[in-house]
Amino acid sequence: MWNEEQIEEYLKNNLSESRYNHSLSVRDTAVMLARKHGEDELKARIAGLVHDCAKNKNNKEVVEIVEENGYNIDMVCKNSPDLLHGLAGAIIAKNLMGIQDEDVLNSIAYHTTGRKEMSLLEKIIYIADYIEPLRKFPGVDNLRETVQKDLEEGILLSFNNTINYVISLGQLLHMDTIEARNYLIIKKCRWRYGKTE
Ligand SMILES: [Fe+2]
Ligand SMILES: [Fe+2]
Repeated sequence: MWNEEQIEEYLKNNLSESRYNHSLSVRDTAVMLARKHGEDELKARIAGLVHDCAKNKNNKEVVEIVEENGYNIDMVCKNSPDLLHGLAGAIIAKNLMGIQDEDVLNSIAYHTTGRKEMSLLEKIIYIADYIEPLRKFPGVDNLRETVQKDLEEGILLSFNNTINYVISLGQLLHMDTIEARNYLIIKKCRWRYGKTE
């Protein structure tokens, strides 16, 4: 497996400067959240650093990477190929960088859409990507505060933000995000009201 220096060198050569700085910032935010929630700090560090390694590839390139590695591209991703930079990134992380840990690879693959039943590491990378200190969008401070109090509440809020934003642009919603949101809401309702069945 590549060491961090090799990974950083790759990112420097393959990402824009702002995307490279974002990657370092996600790494640090992910480590902070891992420490707080008892996740493996090294896994969080590597997943955070690598998560956007395919971000500066164009649509044709990410589609090629994904198809060459035997994945079927669903209808939504066919029409919004940028969603594939997570999966393409996980493929690069495995095949080029030699990262084997499935949880790290899944955290990279699902950092854009989320999915139902996310692992703790997947949640950490998803939300670290959203709230790292260089991010600036309306509501980000409120989101950061919510994440500090309740990680899942923060993730739910970010799904709501993303879904509203995607609708405002008239773009396609990915089912993984909808399923991830439904899953968290159902989980939270059980916690609030007890099991109903
Ligand atoms: Fe990304
Ligand atoms: Fe990112």
